[in-house]
Amino acid sequence: MAQYRPNGCLNRWMVRSMGVVMKWGVKSSFRHYILTSGSGKITAMGGADALEDGTFVFTGEDTSRPHDLRFCGDLRFSAHHGMLFVMVHDPWITRRDNDWDLSVTDVGHWPARTHRMVFARLGTPAVTESGLEFPEVRLTPEASLDFGGNYPAGTALDPIHVVDDMAEPSHPGPPRTPA
Ligand code: HEM
Repeated sequence: MAQYRPNGCLNRWMVRSMGVVMKWGVKSSFRHYILTSGSGKITAMGGADALEDGTFVFTGEDTSRPHDLRFCGDLRFSAHHGMLFVMVHDPWITRRDNDWDLSVTDVGHWPARTHRMVFARLGTPAVTESGLEFPEVRLTPEASLDFGGNYPAGTALDPIHVVDDMAEPSHPGPPRTPA
């Protein structure tokens, strides 16, 4: 595994002070599966943190683009002694006409971070007091392959919240590893 080299997230703590973060649990049943599978492990680093409730927070990288919300963080799920490995790296939420999507670094080209893959379709967000909420998060066909086809395209993932962390502070919890 290549050493982690921050790119746009170099100033993660400085940028974080701007306050905008993305909160996401990916898929609660998947987290449960990983944490109860043999050698299962979830690692959050490089701008991503695990929260006390088992979900994750990704640091806002640049909030200057209203239709392209970029976050940084490196979230890895592994189990079955390395046979299962899923990575969610540097998620970006992008508006395309009336629909939004969530893309991540295409780890098929790792360690290059030059290619991206649309991981989920987000539909339309709801505007809340603290930010944006995407209640309908649906897996794309290409991301379905990352899960070994166990989740077909269109599978519902956890909702995504984009919030102002200054108004609603996050509380990083302990590493999510099984006992
Ligand atoms: C030794 C290899 C593996 C074994 C023994 C195994 C075993 C299982 C079992 C028993 C379940 C059902 C769990 C339940 O219903 O609670 C399951 C579900 C699942 N497996 Fe695996 N698996 C293996 C490899 C993989 C790989 C390589 C992937 C993906 C890259 C994968 C992804 C999944 C997913 C996404 C689910 C559904 C989890 C959920 O949401 O409930 N598995 N696996």
